[in-house]
Amino acid sequence: MCGIVAAVAQRNVQGILLEGLKRLEYRGYDSSGMTVLNNGSLTRHRALGKVAALAEQLDNAPLPGMSGIAHTRWATHGKPSEANAHPHHSSDQVAVVHNGIIENYEHIKQALQANGYTFTSETDTEVIAHLLADKLNSGLGLFEATQEVVSGLGGAYALGVMSVVEPGVVVGARQGSPLVVGVGIDEAFLASDPLALLQVTDRFIYLEEGDLVEIREQGAIQIVDRDGHQVERPVHTFEHGDGAASKGEYRHYMLKEIFEQPEVISAALEGRLSTNSVLVESFGPEAQVLFQNTRQIHIIACGTSYHAGLVARYWLERYAGVPVQVEVASEYRYRHPVVPDGTLFVTLSQSGETADTLAALRFAKTLHYVGTLAICNVPGSSLVRESDMSLMTHAGPEIGVASTKAFTTQLVALMLLTLSVSKAKGQPERAEIVAALQSLPALCKQVLGLAGQIETLSQAFAEKHHALFLGRGAHYPIALEGALKLKEISYIHAEAYPAGELKHGPLALVDSEMPVISVAPNDDLLEKLKSNLQEVRARGGQLFVFADQAVGINDQDGIRVMKLPHVHEALAPLLYTLPLQLLSYYVAVLKGTDVDQPRNLAKSVTVE
Ligand code: M6R
Repeated sequence: MCGIVAAVAQRNVQGILLEGLKRLEYRGYDSSGMTVLNNGSLTRHRALGKVAALAEQLDNAPLPGMSGIAHTRWATHGKPSEANAHPHHSSDQVAVVHNGIIENYEHIKQALQANGYTFTSETDTEVIAHLLADKLNSGLGLFEATQEVVSGLGGAYALGVMSVVEPGVVVGARQGSPLVVGVGIDEAFLASDPLALLQVTDRFIYLEEGDLVEIREQGAIQIVDRDGHQVERPVHTFEHGDGAASKGEYRHYMLKEIFEQPEVISAALEGRLSTNSVLVESFGPEAQVLFQNTRQIHIIACGTSYHAGLVARYWLERYAGVPVQVEVASEYRYRHPVVPDGTLFVTLSQSGETADTLAALRFAKTLHYVGTLAICNVPGSSLVRESDMSLMTHAGPEIGVASTKAFTTQLVALMLLTLSVSKAKGQPERAEIVAALQSLPALCKQVLGLAGQIETLSQAFAEKHHALFLGRGAHYPIALEGALKLKEISYIHAEAYPAGELKHGPLALVDSEMPVISVAPNDDLLEKLKSNLQEVRARGGQLFVFADQAVGINDQDGIRVMKLPHVHEALAPLLYTLPLQLLSYYVAVLKGTDVDQPRNLAKSVTVE
């Protein structure tokens, strides 16, 4: 969603804010803006489009100053435009940046208009600027004014506010949208994500829901909780180096992140396996007893993370014998789910801040689950903090909007969960799967070695408008994920089906123009899948098959085959994801789309 960065320092903050915005651009990129306090006045630039447009304005007319706030926007209320870009000001006295949605803004706006305030944007955020001005005019300080204003706001927000009334102070607030405090030496910062501030600090305070924070000159930080009590929050050191947030030698973050998979899969496994077995304690000291008593599992997630959950259903039912339901969070949170005794609630999320998933967790905590587990990539995220147990996926920062390494490391974590539940229940050890997990990074490297061939293959898709993806069993979710990647970054309409469903309708779409992509590992559904592929061939469809090198599917008229190394059947979904990621990537590059920041999307969906 939107990204916030703020700084109070003993030096010019323009460069810090701009670099922060560049690093937050994955969150929203339809417009951006910056306000800096200079000689007692608020000075502002705003630009439509990417942060580069704002950088150009700053080149032409710098905004020097030692405190400031900045924002990169993903439009919710009001179209992308300069007038709707943040910061929003009230009579050049107050400036506000906001991430989230103020649900009661219309009502507040009418009241403010009746009191003579004029609105210059279509956003919900502008009401906050005018409300603050109103409170400041009544004699309150910036912190108290913000405290009073947020008490009347409905919805979700992370805020950064500043005023000419109190130079050298920025106030932040967090309710439903992420906000961290960066702790510097004699300086302090706010941001939506620690990545925005890694150029200036590696020490962060993760604010709790309802917290208000004031950062001041000399690096003074004061936090007050939702009940108005002053609180100390722990300072965490960021684990990943700053290099993780740069593209390095790669043309796009997405490509870098695809190629990081062998390394991050090793990181996800590290310390969690013994020679033949999984270490159940990886999930926490209480995991052994909890998994032993787990009779069902509900998995809730969105987007790519949901696809990981669908794969896990096949694994948990087959290898741990536990019934599993998987559901998208936006549906689950508004249902009346039946929760049988002994059900474990599991959320999957790269960011740990996805609004629907977080709301689903909060709802689940009102039901009688035996426990809640978050599988997540961001330590300190809301989902992690609010769950009973968590397992980090250790994928490192993922910047490309299209999720790649976060997905495969989620799958690793879910296989660890499968083996742990199975082990806790006293089922036979799965030493062969443990061995296969250990060899996975090397196999991934081999598959990434096919990148050149996949790039050539991608040429067949550059002029296409539609594509079908087929898979069976645990590879049906992999087909779904392949289709999602292609849609997201190349804007080609793609659908995925379980291959056995083809004849029940989608076969009508198949003709000589329709590319059909299938994953064909060497498993017990292979022969069934081959029959389904014949159905496509018989209708003249163009088949592209990613197949195990031993299954005997070869290039022939109408079929292009890409051969993958043999992998244990249980882990094939992981390996077969990689060529589909590469295919989408190269098709998008050929089409010239914005690979890392595809249109209309944002990395972290912190609004409903
Ligand atoms: O951070 P999360 O894993 O909770 O995000 C869920 C989805 O928004 C995310 O996976 C989205 O579908 C990606 N753009 C997929 O590439």
